[in-house]
Amino acid sequence: MKIQIAVLLSGRGSNFKAILNAIQTKYIMNAEISLVVSNNIDAPGLVYADVKNIETLYMDKSLYNDRESFDRVIIERLQKKRIDLVCLAGYMMLISPCFVNAFKNRIMNIHPSLLPSFPGLNAQKQALECGVKVAGCTVHFVDDHMDHGPIIAQSVVIIEDNDTEDSLSKRILEEEHRIYPEAVKLFVEKRLLVEGRKVKILGR
Ligand code: GRF
Repeated sequence: MKIQIAVLLSGRGSNFKAILNAIQTKYIMNAEISLVVSNNIDAPGLVYADVKNIETLYMDKSLYNDRESFDRVIIERLQKKRIDLVCLAGYMMLISPCFVNAFKNRIMNIHPSLLPSFPGLNAQKQALECGVKVAGCTVHFVDDHMDHGPIIAQSVVIIEDNDTEDSLSKRILEEEHRIYPEAVKLFVEKRLLVEGRKVKILGR
């Protein structure tokens, strides 16, 4: 039985494509993306999932009174599809505690900074403005706080003097496309052990 993955996204979907590509090229074995969820009907990532014949779910936030009732519909669908792993990939909604609890240590996120530095929006801009010499990206399990849970993988990107937000974001994105599939592969191979805030990688 293949590990069932759902991807939640709101935009471009390049990380979704990187994970999908890793599965198709068999870098990740024994897994499939069986659902893509978006709160944005025009998200290029959602359109791409459709083209690839992956089941999609569009969630219109305006139809729900609160975050929890919105999330409960998603949770129900994920459970119905027997989803093992949820990958947030540029998903611009905060997920509620009921979602985190329903998929404890089974929700991953990618963030374009070396957490715990620069959580939240415009992480690359924050790093440039702060004058740090290195930036990067982080894949982590999701907990009740934004950009906060146990860290699975990180990659460092050196900041150059002439970097702009665009040039830095581009180099970080290349690393995102490398470490997100790597983290998913480790999950699929059952090699991630969460102990408090630490994630041990088994068999290294
Ligand atoms: C990425 O930079 C990711 O780190 C952040 O949102 C962006 C999503 O990009 N969470 P994409 O939609 O995967 O291309």
